[in-house]
Amino acid sequence: MTTKLQKLFKELEKTNKTFWNISRDTAIFINATIKEAGYKTALEIGTSNGYSGMWIAEALSQNDGHLYTMESHAKGRYALGEENFKKSGLQKYITHILGHAPEAIPETPKKFDFIFLDATKEEYVEHFEALENRINKGGMIIADNLYSHPIPLKPFVDKIKNTKDWEVSEVTIGTGLLIATKN
Ligand SMILES: C[S@@+](CC[C@H](N)C(=O)[O-])C[C@H]1O[C@@H](n2cnc3c(N)ncnc32)[C@H](O)[C@@H]1O
Repeated sequence: MTTKLQKLFKELEKTNKTFWNISRDTAIFINATIKEAGYKTALEIGTSNGYSGMWIAEALSQNDGHLYTMESHAKGRYALGEENFKKSGLQKYITHILGHAPEAIPETPKKFDFIFLDATKEEYVEHFEALENRINKGGMIIADNLYSHPIPLKPFVDKIKNTKDWEVSEVTIGTGLLIATKN
């Protein structure tokens, strides 16, 4: 990782509550998971100012991969994400989409290796319904806020646990992660 990127992460961690960013340990876990698995195509729903997206893109840059990341808040967080992606030097690995999921989920690539859900918690179930057939075998969905928002996440958690071919586990890190791999 470049020194410039390390500095940018440290800078953004000062305002992580304002922009609802994942914790640094969650980011390191996701980054290492993507590198280890060799994932190439990733989708993030909920970019905010780009903190988690840059950790994902840094991992993908090692795998010759690409991140599609979506943010619905036009003037504030989407614009900040644009600025941070420019500063990061990772722009060529990132397609930053202004739009609301699931409607604005890009049609290509047809399938992803890795999906990170970190948007409006009540909507995770709709995102899963839109994406369950758009993830490669051996691919993974990580959803944030499993322990901090158990009630709004319940329909999603129940649905994915009861859907064939998905193996679901939990990781006690940050606000709690649901990790689901597709067999
Ligand atoms: C928790 S923050 C994301 C934090 C970011 N993943 C990080 O850790 O740096 C959630 C973001 O998702 C955006 N959002 C919420 N629902 C969305 C949707 N359905 N589609 C796209 N963006 C959404 C919000 O505007 C907000 O900026």
